[in-house]
Amino acid sequence: MDAQAMKDRIGFEAARRVDSGMRLGIGTGSTAEAFVRALAERVKEGLRIVGVPTSERTARLCRDLGIPLTTLEELPELDLTIDGTDEVDGALRLIKGGGGALLREKIVASASARMLVIADVTKKVETLGAFPLPVEINGFGIVSTLLAIERAAGLVGVAGTLALRRTGDDPFITDGGHLIVDASFGRIPDPEALSAALHAIPGVVEHGLFLGLASSVMLAGPDGIEELAA
Ligand code: A5P
Repeated sequence: MDAQAMKDRIGFEAARRVDSGMRLGIGTGSTAEAFVRALAERVKEGLRIVGVPTSERTARLCRDLGIPLTTLEELPELDLTIDGTDEVDGALRLIKGGGGALLREKIVASASARMLVIADVTKKVETLGAFPLPVEINGFGIVSTLLAIERAAGLVGVAGTLALRRTGDDPFITDGGHLIVDASFGRIPDPEALSAALHAIPGVVEHGLFLGLASSVMLAGPDGIEELAA
C-alpha cells in the first residue's frame, strides 16, 4: 500500500468514528485532509456535525467540500478533534507543526474532550525529536528569542541547530502572523521539561510538543491499523 493509500484508509476509518451531533475539531496536514474528504462523504449522506478548522487551509477545503464550520467563539467546547502528527511516542506524546498550524491545532485540541490522532506507522518513534521541533515565535526580537531557545534547550539537556522556516526567499508566516523556528534536537529525552522551558521564553508563542492531549492514536501500516490509547 503506498503512502497516499494509507492516508486514505486512516482518514476513512477516522470518519467512521464521528457520530451525528458531534462538535468536531478538524486538523491540518495531508492525513487530516484524507479525513476531511471521507468526512465530507458522510456529511453528504446525512451526518450532522459542525467543525472548527485548525487552519485557513483546512477551512478552505471544508468549505469547498460542504462541511459546516463554526468558530471557537461560537462553540468554545468541542467533543472530538481529529488531527495528524509528525511524531508520536509510546506515551502518546506528539510533535506537530510540520504544516505550520501548531498554535491553532493546540488551541482546538485543548478545547476538545478527546483528541484522536491519525498517522501512518512511520510516525511512531521511541523518543521524540528526530523530526525538527517547530517553535512558533513572535517577529519582535528574533535573535534574542533564538538565543533564549538555545539556552533553555541546553538547560534540559538538548542541543541542535535552529532554522527559521521559509517559503522560498520569505519567512513562513503562520495563520496567527508569527514565524516558525524548526529546532533539530535529534532526541528530546524529557519533553515535559523542554515544554516548560520553552513556555517560559516571552518571544515563544507556542511549540509543537503536544503533551497529555492525545486520547488515542490510529496508525495505518501495510498490515492494517494499530490503535494506541492513553
Ligand atoms: C500541521 O501543522 C501538522 O501538525 C500536521 O498535523 C502534521 O505535520 C502531520 O502532517 P501530515 O499528515 O501531512 O504528515
